[in-house]
Amino acid sequence: MPEKMLLKEMEKDQSNLIRALQSVQENEGFVSDERLKDISNYFSIPPVEVEGVISFYAQFKRTKPGKYIISVCDGTACHIKGANLISNWISDELGIKDGETDSEDLFTLETVACLGCCSLAPVIAINGKVYGNLERKSLLKILRKFKKEA
Ligand code: FES
Repeated sequence: MPEKMLLKEMEKDQSNLIRALQSVQENEGFVSDERLKDISNYFSIPPVEVEGVISFYAQFKRTKPGKYIISVCDGTACHIKGANLISNWISDELGIKDGETDSEDLFTLETVACLGCCSLAPVIAINGKVYGNLERKSLLKILRKFKKEA
């Protein structure tokens, strides 16, 4: 596994913990129990402490994400323009709530802070690609397109 190789290449210095976690997150999209144990053993840091670091940083996920990660912006502009409605429509369409992944591991729904394109509010991003000026019809069209392509 590339991330294991990378781990071995790292100095066993506890200051490399974040770097190791980032590497696993990048390679696998989340930090599994197995990887957490690997890292804990490698740096001789108790698993509970590694878990604490993971939970402190929003960039680290502990559950496997879906193929498509839908990030609903809930920054100020998007919030005012109905981010809650956007989340509800997505939940109704896909049957998942914030932080959940559907049973087919296709979609993960998450709420994020400002995506940096407030003039397009309300905004979502799917795997980093931004969709703006959303209303129910355009949102459902996008979701159904992804469903079809999956
Ligand atoms: S508040 Fe949503 S993009 Fe800035």
